[in-house]
Amino acid sequence: MAEATIASQLSLMLKAPPTLSSPSQSLLQQLKPMASSLRTIASFRIFSYSSADRRSPRATPSLLSFSSSLKSLAFSLLPSPLSRHQRGSAVNVSTNGRFSSVTSPKCAASLTDQLKSATEDIRQILKSKHCHPILVRLGWHDAGTYNKNVKEWPQRSGANGSLRFEVELKYKSNTGLVNALKLIQPIKDKYPAVSYADLFQLASATAIEEAGGPRIPMTYGRVDAPSPNYCPEEGRLPAAGASSPADHMRKVFYRMGFNDKEIVALSGAHTLGRARPERSSWGKPETKYTKNGPGAPGGQSWTVQWLKFDNSYFKEIKAKSDEDLLVLPTDAALFEDPSFKVYAEKYAEDQETFFKDFAEAHAKLSNLGAKFDPPEGIVLDAAP
Ligand code: HEM
Repeated sequence: MAEATIASQLSLMLKAPPTLSSPSQSLLQQLKPMASSLRTIASFRIFSYSSADRRSPRATPSLLSFSSSLKSLAFSLLPSPLSRHQRGSAVNVSTNGRFSSVTSPKCAASLTDQLKSATEDIRQILKSKHCHPILVRLGWHDAGTYNKNVKEWPQRSGANGSLRFEVELKYKSNTGLVNALKLIQPIKDKYPAVSYADLFQLASATAIEEAGGPRIPMTYGRVDAPSPNYCPEEGRLPAAGASSPADHMRKVFYRMGFNDKEIVALSGAHTLGRARPERSSWGKPETKYTKNGPGAPGGQSWTVQWLKFDNSYFKEIKAKSDEDLLVLPTDAALFEDPSFKVYAEKYAEDQETFFKDFAEAHAKLSNLGAKFDPPEGIVLDAAP
């Protein structure tokens, strides 16, 4: 069995090379007994536990690369030639239903490659499933929990992948987003070096661009919040039906560090997608624009072409002339509040300005609360 082979390779590794310094030699002596323990461990199957796996333990669990787990365990006990920035994020492994944390080595180059491949896979999913809107919403709902008044990571919340945990996914505001996670999970399994936090933001930025929107200047390398203990409390995201919508939006978006211009620009994301009464209690069950899909039919969209990213959202909510199109109280507030209105009018007139401001605001949104490894982040090359 491959595991047994790896365990014996580890035994060979532990026959210390003569070039090592004496403290390392003595460390290796201490490690020898571990080789046999590792053989025993090798008889267990080690699974990565995603939140989806935990919800449904019978669902196909993804088998972690056993060799990489063992290698990383050996690695983490040896003096490491890797810098802290080259070290990977923790992966959860379990031999007996409990969780433990093992650091898997990854280098920046492989993360870059995996990010590029993941982008390509997301493009394919977008083509086949027409799921642009829900992927944008997934990224927004992970990042939009950020509290700028809290310094510590991940307690400050934001783009840290905590939305993968069941407790947060089950918040009323996140109803339906489990479907987005189901689309992302196979990509996560395929590219384990890419964090959930990165995947959520990558998926949103890719969906916007593929729908015809602006290219968002993205940085990757986000670290995932390690456990559901760091999920934010419910109620951090804006509610569509607040009694004073503009005040409510300011309260919530200012907490994230946004200003009025950014609030209006980001609201323009509703150029994509639909509201479904069974998810949010907003919108009609179906309209002439949604009854035949594409994707799952139904719901009420803000725009006629709700898979196309343009400035038609601002035109439609200004006109309010089509019963089949949705205007939430928070959407209407963009043309009612004097400060918001300046930007909403501008964006209805001038798509180029909207795209520029949206791209800047979304880049900021995608970075809210994020911790990067390496700290300067990773920028991918221009689109292939
Ligand atoms: C005032 C702030 C906001 C409120 C009150 C709000 C509210 C809502 C509601 C009620 C829905 C319908 C959900 C459903 O029934 O499935 C929705 C959908 C959506 N929201 Fe927002 N939203 C806000 C801001 C944003 C921002 C800032 C973004 C992105 C940057 C965004 C992106 C989306 C997208 C893409 C959808 C469509 C999802 C789909 O079709 O599955 N929203 N929003």
